[in-house]
Amino acid sequence: MTTVVVTGGAGFIGSNLVRYLRRKHQDWRIFNIDKLTYAGNLDNLAGIEVGPEYNFIQGDVADGAMLARVWARRRVKYVFHLAAETHVDRSLNDAVPFVRSNVEGTAVLLDVARAEGVEKFIYMSTDEVYGAVPKGSDEVFTEDSPLKPRNPYSATKAAADLLCQVQYASREMPIVILRAANNYGPYQHPEKFLPLMLTNLMEGRQVPIYGTGQQLRDWLFVEDTCKALVTLAEHAEPGSIYNLAGSGIIPNIELARKVLGVLRMEEEDSLKMVEDRPGHDFSYPLSAEKIERELNIRSETKLDDGLRRTIFWYRSNEDWWRAIREGKFKDYYKKQYSEL
Ligand code: NAD
Ligand code: DAU
Repeated sequence: MTTVVVTGGAGFIGSNLVRYLRRKHQDWRIFNIDKLTYAGNLDNLAGIEVGPEYNFIQGDVADGAMLARVWARRRVKYVFHLAAETHVDRSLNDAVPFVRSNVEGTAVLLDVARAEGVEKFIYMSTDEVYGAVPKGSDEVFTEDSPLKPRNPYSATKAAADLLCQVQYASREMPIVILRAANNYGPYQHPEKFLPLMLTNLMEGRQVPIYGTGQQLRDWLFVEDTCKALVTLAEHAEPGSIYNLAGSGIIPNIELARKVLGVLRMEEEDSLKMVEDRPGHDFSYPLSAEKIERELNIRSETKLDDGLRRTIFWYRSNEDWWRAIREGKFKDYYKKQYSEL
């Protein structure tokens, strides 16, 4: 039996990955390790029953003793390391939890996985590790571009990315790194732009657009990411690094306009230009050439299709997002969006 460890499997991408694995690889045995921070949510895994093929462990990836117990008496084939603090705005206010989970957590997990054994360790990195290009630049990031992160979140992701690289360089640990663009889809926490937009609109509130709304993001449907992660586990060479671009680069304000179009809502009542994010990255243009050429992986979901599916999901799952918005998120929202 193939045993896999997923870290951060109660978060957005992690829970989509667990669901994807349960659908496509029913004979794989999954150990989902998640600390259940404010972003981890067992409701994301509703319907996935704990049993011989699926185990949930509430734990911190920086806890080596807990990790060693997971590895005891079993051979782990693949690790999908997704656990992290992930919200850029939060990192700009308090970087410490980001250092603890993203850097220390990755270092501890790498040490345990190396000592106990793993056939492939997939690290979920981000396009943000490259830093950003300014408006008007025609630079494109390849896997060989230097890492120049520009906010505390991406600095800790870059540190973890490097920790993975040096494990391969020094110990030939079978690491594979995926640097992905902006994911979207079901189960994304309403702190992030697209679900914040949808849930605000459904609550009759305006959508906060930072600065001019001209920053570009490349949107990648989460199911395409899950597929790519599994293909990397099965086929990528140890030590390899891949970019995964999305299927639509558009300014934030244009994304908001697309959503308003689907919802048939008027722009002037719905959008509110607010103070910009400090040091707001303009764009992360990725070359997706390597992953397509070597592994035949591309983002298949067109932005308009993915958006429709996502909007439908949020409309059909009000209980899910209302429970989050009515919990601790309220305090964060008040502080972050005092104007709204
Ligand atoms: P998320 O915030 O929705 O989920 C993160 C999960 O990690 C949560 O369930 C949380 O409880 C868990 N976690 C945090 N610290 C932990 C710790 N110390 N130990 C165990 N669990 C812990 O994040 P996401 O958007 O699903 O992102 C998943 C991964 O993908 C992250 O590594 C992120 O950096 C990376 N990534 C995300 C995107 C994106 O657009 N969402 C793009 C590229 C890369
Ligand atoms: O690029 C990959 C990264 O994408 C991931 O590594 C991060 O974990 C993920 O959070 C995401 O980072 P961003 O900063 O791009 O995502 P966010 O949803 O916070 O913001 C998307 C864009 O929308 C960004 O340009 C800022 C803008 N924005 C965001 C919020 C929350 C607004 O205009 N208003 C908002 O209220």
